[in-house]
Amino acid sequence: MRASLRLQFLLRSIAALLILVILYSLIWSWPIDFGIRWRRPIERDIAWSGRELNESTFSDECVCRRENSDVDYNFCFSVKVNGSIRFGQKFDCKWLPLLDELKILEPNAVKKEKFESPVFATGSSSNHFLEARALIVSIRAHFGNTPRILFHDLGLDDDEAAEIKAACNVEYRKFSFDAYPPSVGDLTTFRWKTLLISQLQREFSTFWWVDSSIRWSMSSLNDVYDAVSDGRVGSYLGVDKAYHSVFAATNPAMYKYLPIDIDKAKATMMYGGGFILFHRTPASVEVLKWLVLCAMEDNCINPPYSYLHCQFVDGEHWKLYAYCHRYDQSAVNIILANLNDYNESFYTTKSFQDFATVKRTDRSSVKLARCVKE
Ligand SMILES: *[C@@H]1O[C@H](CO)[C@@H](O)[C@H](O)[C@H]1NC(C)=O
Ligand SMILES: *[C@@H]1O[C@H](CO)[C@@H](O)[C@H](O)[C@H]1NC(C)=O
Ligand SMILES: *[C@@H]1O[C@H](CO)[C@@H](O)[C@H](O)[C@H]1NC(C)=O
Repeated sequence: MRASLRLQFLLRSIAALLILVILYSLIWSWPIDFGIRWRRPIERDIAWSGRELNESTFSDECVCRRENSDVDYNFCFSVKVNGSIRFGQKFDCKWLPLLDELKILEPNAVKKEKFESPVFATGSSSNHFLEARALIVSIRAHFGNTPRILFHDLGLDDDEAAEIKAACNVEYRKFSFDAYPPSVGDLTTFRWKTLLISQLQREFSTFWWVDSSIRWSMSSLNDVYDAVSDGRVGSYLGVDKAYHSVFAATNPAMYKYLPIDIDKAKATMMYGGGFILFHRTPASVEVLKWLVLCAMEDNCINPPYSYLHCQFVDGEHWKLYAYCHRYDQSAVNIILANLNDYNESFYTTKSFQDFATVKRTDRSSVKLARCVKE
């Protein structure tokens, strides 16, 4: 009698335990397992693949889809902070067609191509035209007259546009602001630059983007090209150091969309967003995907209280916020640092001898020569 009671008790306990386990797994693991098993996770975090964090497990809440498709796209930028994953706020799915059009929606579908000699791309509005002219002179002085230069008109007057159109091996292109929301027309928030770089990579597998203030000082860049080509450094390289941390010059509100490890952001150099070597690979296209998503979201690229001018406190350039913001440059530095485990030598040219400088006031008043076709 006592033995059978004991057996009954044991069986009931086991049943209760089973129910608890089932309930627990229903509540906690079922949606996650479901997500992984039944959806085709097309995206993986490229820069991290093969490392610990693996984005095939991105959260269901971050998913965006094309119409009539069951492919999931991840619209939350996520990072690892102190061993746990932190998800950024989801970007609006309405930008999916834009990413698609720019060919940055599916980074891991990008085929890496052989490294080719890069073209030079730049652009300016009227107020920087004299600097841009001096940039062209500088490119010609170091690399000769043959490299292709693509010049983007961001608001030139007729004479300036005519001068560019008439120069040898300089291609004039007018940036089409009309194709984008009105906020892109505000040049001071640099949304246009992220779009322009994305447009360029559709057409060119390798290019330099150089702001009008860049002046070259070396004529051979083979060391850098070889390193990119071999994969010793990454495929989205910043060049000029800002000599302060990413943290100092980034509006903290940006971290809501682009989270970062704050301690590391205070120790990581910020690099200029206006001087980059781009080679189209899954990793560099992924950088553009997040950069454009941020650029299209006001609260990411240009959150309230964003000011360009920094006010460093007590000469501290690293650990304290300097009440300033660098828009696209802040965003790209967060993205690059995160995707490359904060290893600057992988996403910048810092291990190479300096080959250019930023000269913001260097202007040329001599018109570019008209091209004489023989
Ligand atoms: C990451 O993805 C790879 C390849 O898809 C897979 O083999 C590996 O188990 C994943 N790692 C983790 C931690 O999920
Ligand atoms: C990470 O952990 C360390 C030690 O526990 C802590 O001091 C630090 O504030 C944490 N960093 C972040 C960004 O949470
Ligand atoms: C950082 O990247 C460089 C270049 O790929 C590499 O040589 C170096 O070992 C890396 N450093 C660390 C700490 O992983």
